[in-house]
Amino acid sequence: MNRISVVYATKTKHSKKLAEAIGKALNVTAVDVRTSTVPRAAELLFLVGGIYAGKSSPELMRYVEGLDVNQVKKVVLVTSSASTASRKQPEVYSLLTEKGVEVLEEISCPGSFLWLSFGHPNTVDLEEASARAKKIAAGL
Ligand SMILES: Cc1cc2nc3c(=O)[nH]c(=O)nc-3n(C[C@H](O)[C@H](O)[C@H](O)COP(=O)(O)O)c2cc1C
Repeated sequence: MNRISVVYATKTKHSKKLAEAIGKALNVTAVDVRTSTVPRAAELLFLVGGIYAGKSSPELMRYVEGLDVNQVKKVVLVTSSASTASRKQPEVYSLLTEKGVEVLEEISCPGSFLWLSFGHPNTVDLEEASARAKKIAAGL
């Protein structure tokens, strides 16, 4: 079993950037959910995705539906969104907790959409998210 894995779903590449920054900080390769439809076992999984019309990515939801608590015990949910009002993913969170997977923390990161939060995620956003991820991983 991998100790840590990082999986992302993205439409406009912000989550990819974010997942790759986190992966780099943790020394693991971030994987696109589209190339990893069968969930892989990990002690701690970082799940990274954006918010679209107020909802999580359906691809990320499908991935979580396929997860088993025997494969993944702990998850950190990382959310990229334009509005500060939607920087959590309640549907993904519920799905995980119903399965018995512990959600250790939700990390939020500014994304952008048209003029909203334009220019994000920027270098500082990526550094902050990866520093937080590193701290969580160190506490395993
Ligand atoms: C079609 C679409 C709908 C979006 N809807 C929302 C929304 O409802 N709330 C919000 O805060 N951000 C919204 N956004 C902004 C994205 O959540 C933000 O850009 C995020 O960083 C996208 O991640 P991604 O690049 O990995 O796809 C939307 C973006 C797109 C492209």
